[in-house]
Amino acid sequence: MDRQPHQWLCERSSEDVECQRALLALERLPRHVAIIMDGNGRWATARNLPRIAGHREGIESVRDIVKASAELGIGYLTLYAFSTENWKRPEAEVSALMRLLEYYLRAELDELDRNNVRINAIGKLVALPKRVQRILTRAIERTAGNTGLVLTLALSYSGRWDIVRAVQMIALDVRRGKLSPEDISDELFGSYLSTAGMPEPDLLIRTSGELRVSNFLLWEIAYAELYSTATLWPDFRRQEYYHALADYARRERRFGMTSEQVSASSNSVPYRTYIKELFDTIVQRRKG
Ligand code: FPP
Repeated sequence: MDRQPHQWLCERSSEDVECQRALLALERLPRHVAIIMDGNGRWATARNLPRIAGHREGIESVRDIVKASAELGIGYLTLYAFSTENWKRPEAEVSALMRLLEYYLRAELDELDRNNVRINAIGKLVALPKRVQRILTRAIERTAGNTGLVLTLALSYSGRWDIVRAVQMIALDVRRGKLSPEDISDELFGSYLSTAGMPEPDLLIRTSGELRVSNFLLWEIAYAELYSTATLWPDFRRQEYYHALADYARRERRFGMTSEQVSASSNSVPYRTYIKELFDTIVQRRKG
C-alpha cells in the first residue's frame, strides 16, 4: 500500500504546524519518549465524577500525544498504561481500565495503521483478559511491518518484573551452556529485557506532579532526562508536550562527561536559545 504520511482524521491548525516546525528546527528531539500517565483519578474526583471518567478522558490525551509524536517523527513512545501494582485496585476499576484499553485498540487500530504506527506491548501480557490479549495480538501483527512511530504499551508491567525475568532467562542460558557468566555485560543484559532492540528513553515525562519513577523502565532510564508537570494526565495535551520537548532540547546531556567535552560536540547554544524563544512566543500567542 502506498502510504501518505499523517492521514489523521483531524486537520492540524496552522499554529500547530508552526509549533512543530519550530520544534523540528531545534534538531534535538528525543528518539524515545516514555510517559507515566498519572492523575486520572484526581482529575475525575475534582469534577465529582467516578474515577473511570478520568481514565476515559485520559484516552483523549493518549490519542493526542500519539498523533503529535508521529507527526514530529519521534521514533518510540512508551506509555505506562497498567502497572503490575495496578492489579491491586478495586476490581471494578481494573475491569473498566481493561475495557477502555480494548476500546482504544479497536477504535484506533485502522488510523494508527494508516499512519504507519507500529504497535508493541511489554509486560506480563498473559495476565490480561483474553479479549484484550486477542485485540492486542491483532494490533501487533497487523502493524508489524510499519516503519513509523513505535507505540509501546506497558501493560501489567513493572521494571523489577522485567529485570527478574531477564535474570531468570540469563541463568537458564548459563545452565544450558549457551552463556558463561563472563559474557554478561550491560548490552547482553539489555538484550534479555522486554525492551530489547529499542533505544533507551531519552525523555521520561510524569504528569500530576509526582516525583517518582514508580517501577517503570528501571534499567532503561539510567540516562533519561526527567520532566515532571503538575498537569493531570487528562489535561496533558500536545501544547504541553511541545513544552516538554522544547525543554528537553535545551538540556545538556553529559553521559558522565564534562560540560566542555559535550559542548565541543553539540549544536551551538545561542541558536538553540533563539529557537526556544521563538517557540515560546508561538505558544504564548496560542494561549492569548
Ligand atoms: C494513573 O492515574 C493512570 C492509570 C493507572 C492508567 C492509565 C490509563 C489510561 C490513560 C487509559 C488507557 C491507556 C491506553 C494506552 C489506551 P491514577 O488513576 O493513578 O490517578 P490518581 O493518582 O489521580 O488516582
